[in-house]
Amino acid sequence: MTTNSDKKRLYIGGEWLEGNDHYDLRSPYSGKVIAQVPLAEKETVLKAIECAEQGAKEMKKLTALERSNILERAAEIFKERLEECALILAKENAKPLKAARGEILRTIETYKFAAEEAKRIHGETIPMDAAKNGKGRFAYTKREPLGVIAAITPFNFPFNLAAHKLGPAFAAGNSVILKPASQTPLSALAAAGIFEEAGLPKGALNVVTGKGSVVGDVLVTDPRIKMVTFTGSVEVGLGIKERAGLKKVTLELGSNSAVIIDSAADLDAVAQRCVEGSFAYSGQVCISVQRIYVQEDLYESFLQKFTEKAKQLKFGDPESEDTDLSALISINEAKRVEGWVESARNAGTEIAYGGQRTGAILHPTIIKNAGSTQEVSCQEAFAPIVSVNSYKTWDEAIDLVNDSLYGLQAGVYTTSMPKAFDAVERLEVGGVIVNDIPSFRVDHMPYGGVKNSGTGREGIKYSVEEMTELKLAVFTL
Ligand code: SIN
Repeated sequence: MTTNSDKKRLYIGGEWLEGNDHYDLRSPYSGKVIAQVPLAEKETVLKAIECAEQGAKEMKKLTALERSNILERAAEIFKERLEECALILAKENAKPLKAARGEILRTIETYKFAAEEAKRIHGETIPMDAAKNGKGRFAYTKREPLGVIAAITPFNFPFNLAAHKLGPAFAAGNSVILKPASQTPLSALAAAGIFEEAGLPKGALNVVTGKGSVVGDVLVTDPRIKMVTFTGSVEVGLGIKERAGLKKVTLELGSNSAVIIDSAADLDAVAQRCVEGSFAYSGQVCISVQRIYVQEDLYESFLQKFTEKAKQLKFGDPESEDTDLSALISINEAKRVEGWVESARNAGTEIAYGGQRTGAILHPTIIKNAGSTQEVSCQEAFAPIVSVNSYKTWDEAIDLVNDSLYGLQAGVYTTSMPKAFDAVERLEVGGVIVNDIPSFRVDHMPYGGVKNSGTGREGIKYSVEEMTELKLAVFTL
């Protein structure tokens, strides 16, 4: 049963506004209604855009130090509310508390990086006299905010992936309209409350909850929006790019990330990292380990260690301190991947471990030597399922990783320096992680993909570049 206090409001122009219509937000784990969330209509989104235009003007007036201080203060408030925010995650996206706390710690760090980055947004002087016609000229560049940015965020890291959009946008002096995933609006509203308290000008952040087909549609097509930054599925990302016109667009889409295990000083430690990479947050991570390619001499030993460690994972209530895996975001997602396991089995592929489903929880699942056309090999799983495959030669391993529509990050374990450098050259991905899993990420590194994994880069400094326009000034002396 929900109460009045569970009825959420929209945050627009610095005001908390009642919605006309609402939807029931359910916990993916318990199925219970945890809040009623406004379903914004087109008129509401248009109002948010008007307010965000005003907010952009206010943001432009702030000094770099003032913008930095707001971000710093927001980071401090997140620190004070760590437990509260972690609990929001456990409830709305069934992230186990241990992992939820980890996400909030990263969110704090992301906003701190943004606070630092706000102080070092600069241009350069251009040596004009290097050109014949440039003699007697002095020129420099500066970076200017774009204005209003639409941020469309996914359910899997609702605090930190929003921070990757809000942090750099505010650092650079933009305003934002945030459209959170319909499954995870509570974190976006909590972030709005924190920024309000941190002193962000009215209209600089607007949170519009509801359906992508209504809210997203207006944001993507309205000419007053200067940029759309989206994290989510390839299908939605392509639709955004097609309809965005001349807006800037950054897309952080999915992957079926791979790791090569060619040689390792400590295979036990590698197996442990692969368990973390494959099953953390039930694999609902864009850089989750989904394909493992092991040199044939190490294959059996690796598989045994990997499976033994996967068996130690505990699944259940996300609010329990010892839970490692909980419900997927919906029962349909769990059923989808259960179907993949079934078709792998029907194709004669051995399931080394798992494959069962309890409600919306898919048990950690390990498939042996899945063929390249099986779903687990060629589609994004976003679930705790991984295929472990053996290979003979180094070239074969590189080809297997590259045999993918996606290219976000790849991991390579090798004790050979030449092979490590070769992997960096030849793997078709946005980032190569040597001697670790592809799931490694810290929040100031450039992050983004090639192929269907998207376009543009996140990581605060790189997002600031995307979220600013370069302006040139030429002085005739
Ligand atoms: C993602 O799933 O895109 C983000 C992964 C991360 O930030 O660790």
